[in-house]
Amino acid sequence: MAGAGAGVAERSEDRPARATIGPDCVGLSGVPAGELRRVLTRARELRRQPEPSLVGRTVATVFFEDSTRTRTSFAIAAQRLGAQVVDLSGKASSANKGETLLDTGRVIEAMGVSAIVLRTGEAGAAATLARELACGVVNAGDGRHEHPTQALADALALDDHWNGSDGSFGFAGKRVLIVGDVVSSRVARSNAAALKTLGAEVVLVGPPLMVPGTLGEALGCRVSHDLDAELPHADGVMMLRIQFERGAGALLGSAREFRAGWGLTADRAARLRSDAAVLHPGPTNRGVEIDPEVADSPRSLILRQVAAGVGVRMAVLEACAG
Ligand code: NCD
Repeated sequence: MAGAGAGVAERSEDRPARATIGPDCVGLSGVPAGELRRVLTRARELRRQPEPSLVGRTVATVFFEDSTRTRTSFAIAAQRLGAQVVDLSGKASSANKGETLLDTGRVIEAMGVSAIVLRTGEAGAAATLARELACGVVNAGDGRHEHPTQALADALALDDHWNGSDGSFGFAGKRVLIVGDVVSSRVARSNAAALKTLGAEVVLVGPPLMVPGTLGEALGCRVSHDLDAELPHADGVMMLRIQFERGAGALLGSAREFRAGWGLTADRAARLRSDAAVLHPGPTNRGVEIDPEVADSPRSLILRQVAAGVGVRMAVLEACAG
């Protein structure tokens, strides 16, 4: 398993075990456009009208890192499809007694679980489980590597905004800025992969230590350190939280300095085109990377991203636990 500490995803981490969505979902890097569109279209259908396609199945959520929206969203999605949900998060697991993740996974699988939804601090952990287990494995965030269902939710929210609710997930001609602590962000890596595959241009923006040129090369994205110059040309701006728990404090002078240079303040948001969307995967640190009046403005898709997450997780669980 690859280490979690690398700023730039290592080669093995860049390549999911299987670049598909179903029977596992470990990452979006390498997943073809047709497959993304199929899952997003299904997510939109299930959001309108859930179907009892997982009755009699059990989905286990196994979260070794804090989470509010992702874990709840997976649980609600599983229940809407008729599945039972068991939560083995945090201290409830024998991982705290020294059991390896693979052993924990094998034990859960032996109980007849159809899919394991896993969040860990270790990049590559979901891919390892997916290789070893027959049940479905869904990556709910592995270290700094990928967070595929968040990026699918963001794509669905953006398509609703740009193309309407019968849109076709074509993002050609659209430019999205991913701004802030990009180096620490699995959301950024999954979004860069998915948005580019769907045709958008992705620009990574932030201070040089948080957005090194090598990261842009690894993800195939242009890098900019000048947010003010980029804002007037963007169709979407995705702000990221500073991931202090992954050591990002060492990458910036202070939160105040960050806000002055790269925060989406009310003044900066005024430079955006009138139809440009503002996104944030949450949790938001208001007054640091985004001002409260921007987060709550009509152009903010933040709560629509959350709502889209339930539909997307229904579609992914159907593909992985069905
Ligand atoms: C993100 C995560 O955990 O990667 N949050 C989320 O799942 N919506 C981003 C973050 O923690 O800042």
